[in-house]
Amino acid sequence: MIAHHIFVCNNQKTEVGDDLAKALKKELKLQGLKTFVADGQKAHNRVQTCNCLDVCKHCKKGPGAAVIVYPEGVLYGDVRPKDAARLVHEHLGKGLPLTDLLLS
Ligand code: FES
Repeated sequence: MIAHHIFVCNNQKTEVGDDLAKALKKELKLQGLKTFVADGQKAHNRVQTCNCLDVCKHCKKGPGAAVIVYPEGVLYGDVRPKDAARLVHEHLGKGLPLTDLLLS
C-alpha cells in the first residue's frame, strides 16, 4: 500500500527539484518512513520527480520547487532541500502540513 506519494517538480533551470527529491528520499530512510507497517499492512512513502505542476511562481521563479503530496493533494511551493526533514517529519510522520510552505 502506498501511504503517500510525493511529486516534486524538477522543471527548473537549477538542480533544486532533483536535490529536493534526493533529500526527501534520504529523509524517508533516516526517519524510518520509507517502508513501515500500518494497521498490520506494509506501507510505503514514495518520492517521484515530475514536470510542471502549474504553480511556477512558487517553483522555477522562486528559491525552491513545487511539491504535491497525495492522497491529500496538499500543494507546497518554494520548497528547498533544507525543508525535506521537516516535511517528512511533520507532514508524513504526524499528518501536519507545513503551513509556511502551503499553497492550497
Ligand atoms: S516549473 Fe515547477 S511548477 Fe511550473
